[in-house]
Amino acid sequence: METLLTAENIKKNYTIRKKTGLFKKIRINALDSFSIVIKKGFSTGIVGESGSGKTTLAKILAGIIRPDKGHIYYKNIDIYNKSNFKNYRKNVQIVLQDPYSSFNPRLKLITTFKDGYKIYYKNKSDFYKKLDSLLENIGMSKDDLFRYPHEYSGGQRQRLSIARALMLDPDIIIADEPVSALDVSVQGQIINFFRSLKQKAGKSIVLVSHDLAIIKYLCDEIYVFYKGLLLEKGTKKDIFDNTLHPYTKMLIKASKEKLFTTTYYENTGYCPFSNRCNYFNDKCKDIIELVNLSNTHCVRCTLFL
Ligand SMILES: Nc1ncnc2c1ncn2[C@@H]1O[C@H](COP(=O)(O)OP(=O)(O)O)[C@@H](O)[C@H]1O
Ligand SMILES: [Mg+2]
Repeated sequence: METLLTAENIKKNYTIRKKTGLFKKIRINALDSFSIVIKKGFSTGIVGESGSGKTTLAKILAGIIRPDKGHIYYKNIDIYNKSNFKNYRKNVQIVLQDPYSSFNPRLKLITTFKDGYKIYYKNKSDFYKKLDSLLENIGMSKDDLFRYPHEYSGGQRQRLSIARALMLDPDIIIADEPVSALDVSVQGQIINFFRSLKQKAGKSIVLVSHDLAIIKYLCDEIYVFYKGLLLEKGTKKDIFDNTLHPYTKMLIKASKEKLFTTTYYENTGYCPFSNRCNYFNDKCKDIIELVNLSNTHCVRCTLFL
């Protein structure tokens, strides 16, 4: 299967000022030494609780923020290579969690679409042809675009932002929590739309979510994160039928109970999950390398050394 996007050893820190204590600055490891390979027509799930670094990763893969360290290659060429960047930006599109913030509130949708794509579509009729076919796919028509963003429902806005992401016919669509802000009743529509993009249009989907049920439904390969560190990676079967990491087990259990917490990670050198893990032992005081248990499944946990 053709490899489209590769990220190698990505690292991203943020420095924040702690509210308590005098001018204490802390460095958050939003992402640590992370690598990923996105293949054509394949769907990849990124899962972890809030604060795990998922949005940071999605934005790095989409070229919106630059990592502190590491490289990203689109079709084997560094994305920050000038000659590649335009091609990469056209082919890797991102859909964000809150579709309201991704449209200019003062412009009618039709203007946003027209302005955004006039440099790519020199020919007006090509532009409208593409627009019409995409709108049809999401159950809307051009007449529906003569409104301002706030006049649409959350579900409509998210469908429109997906349509916008597809205007340039990208290879890869990165979706960061695309249904978390939506009513449960419309979540299914959007998720099925992503599924058809993969199955019918052969797009690669990178789905970021804290909801394992959605990941399970849509993704071929799954990366499990905690506090910026990849703890387990495998095929859907590896992750759900042969769950290894205590954290992944907890997530699967919690997905049934919907229990999630928000935390950040100050680098202590310990396994980030150690303070919540029932299997904590002295070996967990070091962060260990990922251990490959098969050619698809790997885990970062002292239980599998
Ligand atoms: N711009 C920023 N400045 C400072 N800290 C940030 C910034 N963006 C994210 N973080 C921190 O980095 C960590 C990872 O955040 P994020 O990538 O948003 O995770 P997730 O999407 O999994 O919730 C969190 O601790 C978050 O508070
Ligand atoms: Mg996020």
